[in-house]
Amino acid sequence: MNLDARVEATLALLRQAAEEFQPLALASSLGAEDMVLTDLVFRNRLPVTVFTLDTGRLPEPTQRLMARVSEHYGQPIRIYFPEAADVEQFVAQHGVNGFYEGIAQRRACCGIRKVAPLRRALAGQKAWITGLRRDQSPTRTALAAQAWDEEHGLTKFSPLADWSREEVWAYLHAHHVPYNALHDQGYASIGCSPCTRAIQAGEDERAGRWWWEHPETKECGLHLSAVS
Ligand code: ADX
Ligand code: SF4
Repeated sequence: MNLDARVEATLALLRQAAEEFQPLALASSLGAEDMVLTDLVFRNRLPVTVFTLDTGRLPEPTQRLMARVSEHYGQPIRIYFPEAADVEQFVAQHGVNGFYEGIAQRRACCGIRKVAPLRRALAGQKAWITGLRRDQSPTRTALAAQAWDEEHGLTKFSPLADWSREEVWAYLHAHHVPYNALHDQGYASIGCSPCTRAIQAGEDERAGRWWWEHPETKECGLHLSAVS
């Protein structure tokens, strides 16, 4: 399929989702895939709320992009933050970088900083949209473009499920979409600053996320049903 045909099919799915499911929200980490979806939603004025989860540990370039996207499209991104008391308790117990101690601590931190705010963001929504792609990692090979999300009790759309990384970048360049400056410094997948690093040529595109863990454990809890 050429890029134009893929874009048309993706836009058709987004339109269908917006018609059938209201309210509808797009979860954006401001990563490359999410910028494709944000561009499609904002430029086509689809009735979709775009939101992001600000964990409190995001890299500065991600924060800068957050502000720039709202300016560029003249439309707001809703920002959700973690509960301060939960962060304070985790930090008191495990230290400010306690997530390096082990998988349980890492998942607890993601639980407080991402999963709990996501639950708040999805409350009352009929469906949500993510930028997941099938070939991103071994945990995502069975991903469907539309599926029931048991975990959150609503329908989940992943309209870029069968897009390749190259197609994502071809779209961003063709449409002059703003993107995270870290992508130009070798960062493929971008999350929190202490848990993300650049990758080397030939490495898996999620190799820079929680690089001290095995590929099979590398989901933060936002997409547990994607874990096979
Ligand atoms: S994850 O491991 O952080 O969940 P990844 O960064 O690959 O995964 O993001 C996958 C999808 O999860 C994104 O396309 C987006 O829909 C959603 N997502 C991830 N992080 C955030 C965030 N901070 N805010 C909103 N949505 C997010
Ligand atoms: Fe915490 Fe790291 Fe998860 Fe961010 S990615 S919420 S800092 S463990």
